[in-house]
Amino acid sequence: MSDVPEGPRAASDGGPAVRRLADWEANTLAELAAEHGTPLYVFDPARVRENCRRLTAAFPDTEIQYAAKAHTGRRTLQTVHDEGFAIECASAGEVQRALAAGIPGSDVTYTAVNPPARDLDAVVKTWEEHPSLTITAGAADTLDRLAERGFDGRLRIRVNPGIGAGHHEKVVTGGHPKFGVGLDRVPELAESAAERFEFAGIHAHAGSGISGEQLADHRELVSRMGDLARTLEDCGLPVETVDVGGGFGVPYREEAPALDLEAVAAATREALGETDATLAIEPGRYVVADAGVLLTTVNTVKEAPEMVVGGIDAGMTTLLRPALYDAYHAVRNLDTETDDGEDRETVGATLAGPVCETADLLCENRPLPRPERGDLLAVGNAGAYGYEMASTYNTRPLPAEVGLDGDLLRRRGTVADVTEFEEPNGFAAAAPRSDQ
Ligand code: LLP
Repeated sequence: MSDVPEGPRAASDGGPAVRRLADWEANTLAELAAEHGTPLYVFDPARVRENCRRLTAAFPDTEIQYAAKAHTGRRTLQTVHDEGFAIECASAGEVQRALAAGIPGSDVTYTAVNPPARDLDAVVKTWEEHPSLTITAGAADTLDRLAERGFDGRLRIRVNPGIGAGHHEKVVTGGHPKFGVGLDRVPELAESAAERFEFAGIHAHAGSGISGEQLADHRELVSRMGDLARTLEDCGLPVETVDVGGGFGVPYREEAPALDLEAVAAATREALGETDATLAIEPGRYVVADAGVLLTTVNTVKEAPEMVVGGIDAGMTTLLRPALYDAYHAVRNLDTETDDGEDRETVGATLAGPVCETADLLCENRPLPRPERGDLLAVGNAGAYGYEMASTYNTRPLPAEVGLDGDLLRRRGTVADVTEFEEPNGFAAAAPRSDQ
């Protein structure tokens, strides 16, 4: 997607094109860390609103669905819905959370990827109470399984567009056989779908974190979807929406330019071409990434021959992205700013979490102020796929999350939370009998 240098405020209420890690107020973050402890996610719903408004301005006449998986917090879902977005859900659980947050069924879509029977059972049951809910299915099999359950509601077909893009091979979805129905097979399946369901359109998703250099791939995907929509229309199958997915990238590196949304939108419209269908998009990361930071404390400093290793209390269980995708997240040492501008030499710092795995590194040999025990660090762009991908591996309870205004959004987990599902006598029941 096309990049431009960060410019003046894009729209009066849309805020700047990007919020950098340096833009967060150090004293506010330090106060939140002092009150709630670390590791701590800090999230700013006001920034979510700004991101929504820039998207709305760039994509008029477009159905915008927020991909809930990026950050499923209740307040986030309510904020984006309040800004006019619908909610795209990746599981029956997300559907349940969207409805519980007060989102009407007509603004909820469930994108079923190899859906477990339990998910289909739950979503079809939900649909009976909320018949305007939409399901997007990516396999002929899924259509049959939905019909078997009595579903005859709104259905979109997920297309495999034969082309994908993304910040890492593990998040490129378009073109992978796992996702969607091959372009050439869609007309036949759509015809059968129209007989059994309320056919509501077509969907494709290229991948996540699409960069400036990948605009051509996005364009190609949209153009193939436009062609497909016209083929279906020519077959007498009205296409309500052409959903071209999410994937809009954000700059994780401080020096990387912001995405030029206007240019992306113009390219999307142009590539789609003439159709009666409504354009739909599904951004997740773009809405929430720069609305969140992660705060973590240095607890151990080790001078290794090659580098200084700073042990921190946030690990791959707190923020998985560096371990899983080698993802870069900016780091800022707040203590060098709040301790009366104390001077620190810059060293090659490796920040390592508390998990006994070499993958548990936030960064390696990065030029940073020499870390000292007790330093408070802020990690940028943690709002998308941060808290959501956290785990309790190593019996590390989940971190807390607070709003920038100090409201507790998700309390810190406890060991009791982690062991809650364990049957205390589970092994005893399975133990061999003494007479065997
Ligand atoms: N629509 C569908 C069908 C998706 O599968 C996704 C993301 C989105 C929309 C939203 O994509 P976004 O606008 O957020 O790029 N955990 C990875 C990202 C995985 C995204 C999976 N699908 C990461 O942290 O980079």
